[in-house]
Amino acid sequence: MKIQMKRALALLLFAVCLCGVLAACDKQPEAPKYDYLVLVNKENKLPDNWEAVIELEDAQNTVPDGVALDESNDYLSTDVFKVEKKALQAFRALQADLEKDGIVILLDSTYRSVARQEELWKEFEEEYGLDYTQKYVAVPGYSEHHTALAIDVCIIKDGVIINDNDRMIAEKEIFAEIHKRLADYGFILRFPEGKDAVTGYAYEPWHFRYIDSPAIAEEIMDNGLTLEEYLAKSAS
Ligand code: DAL
Ligand code: ZN
Repeated sequence: MKIQMKRALALLLFAVCLCGVLAACDKQPEAPKYDYLVLVNKENKLPDNWEAVIELEDAQNTVPDGVALDESNDYLSTDVFKVEKKALQAFRALQADLEKDGIVILLDSTYRSVARQEELWKEFEEEYGLDYTQKYVAVPGYSEHHTALAIDVCIIKDGVIINDNDRMIAEKEIFAEIHKRLADYGFILRFPEGKDAVTGYAYEPWHFRYIDSPAIAEEIMDNGLTLEEYLAKSAS
């Protein structure tokens, strides 16, 4: 009898502990699977194994209701972009926020494999020469686009898609409005104007980088920092 009671008590205790552990597991915030502050630049290549763990989602562009597009719609309907899961969610929220004020941004380039970056490098070098290419295109293996956390956008203005570098740089007002809202959604402007010496690249108003933290993004954007500068400051 005594042994049976002891067994019953032990079982009860085990069940209580198990419930406790399960409840605790349930409450744990989901641990990030990768470092959203990962630094990929001319000196730091994509970490090994990154592409094996990153969670990608497919995404396509659609034109918002009420926006008439002058050009052929093929550009929008056929491309399937890959973006890291949380970055895509945040991008959709940013897009919706901007749309309310009549600003339309679309995905133009997101995750790129090393092979795609090689093609891009060749395309740019043939069309614009080496100097220009080095200012705007990363050496394959060293592009932030390999992380799937970088998103290049294009815009629709007066029914026309604007996606070439010079025309986008000229759209100062629209991009200023877009940049103001990036941090709220955990994005930063990765290659700010006048920071070529720090980032290694010319100004790219279209290249946004998801870092998953609106607070850190705000610190970076409000102080005109680059990711390099923020990481150096927080390490010191
Ligand atoms: N345009 C940026 C620098 C890249 O190619 O990753
Ligand atoms: Zn880019």
